[in-house]
Amino acid sequence: MSSASIDTPQTKDRAMDDERFHYYEPAQGHGLRHNPFNAVIAPRPIGWISSIDRDGRPNLAPYSFFNAFNYEPPILGFASIAWKDSVRNASETGEFVWNLVTKELDTRMNQTATPLPPGMSEFAHAGLTAVPSRHVKAPRVGEARAAMECKVVDIVQFKDHKGQAVSGWLVLGEVIAVYIDRTLIVDGVYQTAEARPVLRAGRGGDYVEVTPDRMFEMERPAGSSIPAHHGS
Ligand SMILES: Cc1cc2nc3c(=O)[nH]c(=O)nc-3n(C[C@H](O)[C@H](O)[C@H](O)COP(=O)(O)O)c2cc1C
Repeated sequence: MSSASIDTPQTKDRAMDDERFHYYEPAQGHGLRHNPFNAVIAPRPIGWISSIDRDGRPNLAPYSFFNAFNYEPPILGFASIAWKDSVRNASETGEFVWNLVTKELDTRMNQTATPLPPGMSEFAHAGLTAVPSRHVKAPRVGEARAAMECKVVDIVQFKDHKGQAVSGWLVLGEVIAVYIDRTLIVDGVYQTAEARPVLRAGRGGDYVEVTPDRMFEMERPAGSSIPAHHGS
């Protein structure tokens, strides 16, 4: 065996890597007490999704595989690890509403993850008000301090890297109407932290509350932002 094959820089790098990092390949398991995937990619905003089924019955559930994806038109999306009711309803009706989860609503948001028998509403179960929307049939959460009515633009089933379909669906919706509690707008600027948004961290029940003292500002490099999107 040549000495090069034993002690190449690459081998040294790998040894240093192994010392510094817990490395794993998801297909072989993570080797930890809790799956770190959604704790590392965290905190995530929560897609609190209201929808109706084809018989007009309201549904409400939280999805933390959620984010905004486009400005013009505004597009947001949530992902479900199975063909759950929210996905089915979005698919059947082409509509849903996103609702903001803030600290005073955290427990009730959590309750809306309860699997209920068909016909039982998560709104009633969690003591929330289903307020009619203007452009979609799905109601919004009356207690939420912001909400966005959406029309479905795409539902994508995930595939693995070999092209094999897996259990997981991304529902993308164009935002066609937005509600923001006026007390959260100061001098024309939405006060993100004043709303006390609650975000999902890892494990079974970890969350992060955003408070004004956690905010900081960093200007983007010149030319990298689009003023029409960011405002002044
Ligand atoms: C904070 C939170 C985040 C969740 N995020 C997801 C998610 O991203 N994807 C998912 O499939 N389920 C997620 N769940 C579980 C669903 O909310 C739960 O399965 C719910 O019953 C689905 O309701 P539905 O069938 O009415 O859509 C989450 C639950 C909680 C409490």
